Amino acid sequence: MNVLFRAQASRQVVVRAALMFVAVIGLAGCDQMMNDRYSLDMRYPPRSDPVFKEATISGEELQYPDRPGQLPILSLANAEDPENPLFKPAKAGMLLAPSKANAEARKNLNESLEKVFGTPARPKVAPDSELAGTLQAELQLDERTLRRGSRLYRIQCLHCHGLSGDGRGPTAFWVNPHPRDYRQGVFKFTSVTLQQSAQKPRREDLLRTLRQGIDGTSMPSFGTMTEDELQAIVSYVIHLSMRGEVEYQVLVELTQNPSLAKPETSVDEWIAGLARYWLDAQKPENEIIPEPYPFALHPETDAEKVAIRDAVRRGATFFADAQVGCVTCHTDYGRNAKFRYDVWGTLTKPADLTTGIYRGGRRPIDLYYRMHSGINGSGMAAFKDAAVKSGKVKSLWDIVKFVEILPYPAMRNEYGIHID
Ligand code: HEC
Ligand code: HEC
Repeated sequence: MNVLFRAQASRQVVVRAALMFVAVIGLAGCDQMMNDRYSLDMRYPPRSDPVFKEATISGEELQYPDRPGQLPILSLANAEDPENPLFKPAKAGMLLAPSKANAEARKNLNESLEKVFGTPARPKVAPDSELAGTLQAELQLDERTLRRGSRLYRIQCLHCHGLSGDGRGPTAFWVNPHPRDYRQGVFKFTSVTLQQSAQKPRREDLLRTLRQGIDGTSMPSFGTMTEDELQAIVSYVIHLSMRGEVEYQVLVELTQNPSLAKPETSVDEWIAGLARYWLDAQKPENEIIPEPYPFALHPETDAEKVAIRDAVRRGATFFADAQVGCVTCHTDYGRNAKFRYDVWGTLTKPADLTTGIYRGGRRPIDLYYRMHSGINGSGMAAFKDAAVKSGKVKSLWDIVKFVEILPYPAMRNEYGIHID
């Protein structure tokens, strides 16, 4: 008995020692990974994939959503191939080939980009103007933060979002929706009340996406990372986005006029323009401030319940309005909506509102933001003025309330909403 016990005990010691050994090696490995930097020789590759210019093709014509392992916009050859069912309705000029741009102009573009934005190991945002200081301070784009962000990005994000933020990392082809291509400068989920074309995210919007992930998609939550790490990653995403958008904008011009040896708007001018948008988006006066939440959180009295019921009904009426309402896109509450191209050249469709899955967050305020300013780049409209002007709702909260009860049969019954 005793011998057996001793044998067991010593086995435990061996097992524990082995575990400790593995743990130490593991931690050391981890540490090594954290210090793993990009080679100093590595460069951001010049953009070679087609520049997607127009998002005018709607679902009716589009019967073949992309398949696993594919991005819908793979190559110009695909787009121009009349046999390819994906691209039957492709319009001339929808895709622009970077290879068609003037070679000298491209070379200059690449050099300017590297001068201002550095390399993956030494990222920076350093335009040749006093703007550099403002950007570094107000958007936290100083080199130390960016370097840290770049390293974390490589470990956590690169396999989906790609080295240059093109949304074409090795995993990207296999997940749907596809990871965001930051180079378009467009982010879906913002809480900013500027016009949609100028609507950059606030840092807080990007942080929310990182903390919560994007429900119903493969974008994970990074809620276990420290605040400092998340801030550094956000800075790096802004860096990639600015770099990518400057390249995109100049390439649109160069590919449309292949003889152009010098773009009309220089890299520095584009940076100045885009920097303004990014800075404006961070200003408190441009944040969406909703009217106070008008409903009781736990309705008890009849009056409180009636107030909610009336709001839900107003929301439902607006939803169903054939002219301006939501039903123009969310056919059958989104259960039968059609695919459409978004501005990234990938496919999306108006959400199925009976599922209760919200990509931009499920708090009432998140839904309010969506109603107010839409979802950038995806075709989801903004209703900040239109809804109340229609006279059908008192505020956007009416629509939010309607959207909130829609997925739940018991609540639909309670409020007299019939969807079948
Ligand atoms: C497994 C793949 C995957 C990984 C890893 C991943 N993402 Fe994403 N990410 C996605 C997908 C998919 C979307 C797009 C969802 C959509 O279009 O609704 C997305 C979207 C985003 C967006 C756009 C949000 C908006 O408002 O448009 C940001 C910003 C983002 N990711 C940042 C990151 C960062 C930073 C990391 C690393 C810390 C990361 N992602 C890691 C898949 C991934
Ligand atoms: C012009 C077309 C269009 C109209 C009009 C429209 N939507 Fe959408 N909606 C979309 C698309 C497209 C998406 C999916 C966007 C994505 O995530 O890629 C969407 C997504 C949504 C979502 C999901 C939000 C999230 O965080 O995932 C909600 C909720 C929604 N719409 C509600 C409405 C309501 C309510 C109205 C009317 C007030 C409305 N939509 C009008 C196109 C539209």
